[in-house]
Amino acid sequence: MTLDPQAAGTNTDDDDPQRLWDRVDDYISDRLVPSDLALDEALAASERAGLPPINVARNQGRLLELLATAIGARAILEIGTLGGYSTIFLARGLPADGRLVTLEFSPRHAEVARENLERAGLSQVVEIRVGPAVASLAQLAAEGAGPFDLVFVDADKESYPQYLEWAVRLARPGALIVADNVVREGAILDGTVDDVSTAGIRRFYDALAAEPRLRATAIQTVGHKGHDGFAIAVVAGPA
Ligand code: SAH
Ligand code: DHB
Ligand code: MG
Repeated sequence: MTLDPQAAGTNTDDDDPQRLWDRVDDYISDRLVPSDLALDEALAASERAGLPPINVARNQGRLLELLATAIGARAILEIGTLGGYSTIFLARGLPADGRLVTLEFSPRHAEVARENLERAGLSQVVEIRVGPAVASLAQLAAEGAGPFDLVFVDADKESYPQYLEWAVRLARPGALIVADNVVREGAILDGTVDDVSTAGIRRFYDALAAEPRLRATAIQTVGHKGHDGFAIAVVAGPA
């Protein structure tokens, strides 16, 4: 075996942690999360359509899939579809008769997602609702939709506190709530920050802490998405 300092991830990468994190993410995903046509095409089509590359990383997508599988989720709610990349993973964690509702503000994003989900063979499983998520959530509640076993929160950070309220309302007891981007390279530490996204995430933590029906934590992550993190919460009650 040769000792390749590049491959070992030492010295050269010390100057650039992001490069090291990228290579480790690639190492993990190349071994454990083989890509496929549906996933590759979802990203390629999203890029062609000019969508921002703010989808979850491949290994993170698999984490979402595994969480859905592990809790035996049959109904999933996603807030923030983009091109449907995370949606594909979440839907793959469902049984054949499972259902996923995903909420997206932008008709353009939703259209790209629709094609990506069609290509992934998931059109029958996934329903995309277009519009401001808060309105769609109120509509879902009015329809008596759910209860959902898993809610993934990943839309505008400003509204995370509201999304949390709706998630608790639409989730079954024992359900899992997962939220992306809750670290933001440590920006959350700055209480004086003049940024509605970071302020929204800070209020989201306060809401998590104050909600007696939730038991929560958050985990920092590094990788293709830089330094960020996931919050995870379980809704009180029998599973
Ligand atoms: N979950 C996706 C990424 C979502 S990016 C993935 O990992 O693949 C966030 C998305 O939320 C964007 O598509 C954006 O248009 C959408 N969004 C922003 N504000 C919104 C709102 N008020 N209601 C619904 N969706 C919103
Ligand atoms: C942004 C949004 C996300 O959901 C994400 O994972 C990364 C970045 C953004 O709005 O910039
Ligand atoms: Mg995100």
